[in-house]
Amino acid sequence: MRKPLIAGNWKMNGSRSDNKALLAGIKAGIAKAKVAEVAVCAPYIYIPQVAEQLAGTPIAWGGQNLSTEAKGAFTGEISAAMLLDFKCKYVIVGHSERRTLYGEDDALVAKKFAVAEQAGLIPILCIGETLEEREKGITEQVVARQIKAAIDEVGIATLGKGVIAYEPVWAIGTGKTASPQQAQDVHAFIRGQLAAHDKAVAEKVRIQYGGSMNAGNAKELLAMQDIDGGLIGGASLKAEDFLAICTAAG
Ligand code: PGA
Repeated sequence: MRKPLIAGNWKMNGSRSDNKALLAGIKAGIAKAKVAEVAVCAPYIYIPQVAEQLAGTPIAWGGQNLSTEAKGAFTGEISAAMLLDFKCKYVIVGHSERRTLYGEDDALVAKKFAVAEQAGLIPILCIGETLEEREKGITEQVVARQIKAAIDEVGIATLGKGVIAYEPVWAIGTGKTASPQQAQDVHAFIRGQLAAHDKAVAEKVRIQYGGSMNAGNAKELLAMQDIDGGLIGGASLKAEDFLAICTAAG
């Protein structure tokens, strides 16, 4: 039985005062609800604030990216050890915004996965096709290539220690969600790709859905057999909406 993981991806949003209110709201709501595993991935600079406010709660936290390097002359970068220094449990790797806006390719993303896992973080590996790729009918080819790059780098056993987030790029921040069946089909395909290497890992690994998941559509999506939680952007910035999603997964 896979325990769903609902992770908020704040992206480049927030301020000290907004975060304070948001975290207080989430904390208060979580205490009342019996919910899935929950995490928030904050901008680097706010991770100490998140760590302080969430310490002692069941809510975990994480980063949105990391460097492949351990330390040294890499201006503007943040290492796995630094994230661990602030007790991050998770780190997102290969989010589509990093892939498309910052030129991260499959090989770099796979390396980030490896570095994060080796250091003791749980990487959340984002994969997914663009609208053009879906319209061309190559969704499965694209996600298979993205998964293979990670397996080639770290092996199936290590991949199984992370989380996979299937995020169709056309659904991210657009308000256009994949239908539960569309998402389920790709999730089942991804699990099949993993099963070809190791059935036990495929059964165990959590595959989150991401892309305009919100309080209104979460329940239907999360009810699908191979959807094990969500990676939530916009709806993670309002405590009420985020909590509704967490509760829907509980
Ligand atoms: P969204 O973002 O929920 O705002 O679509 C999801 C994500 O990018 O992880």
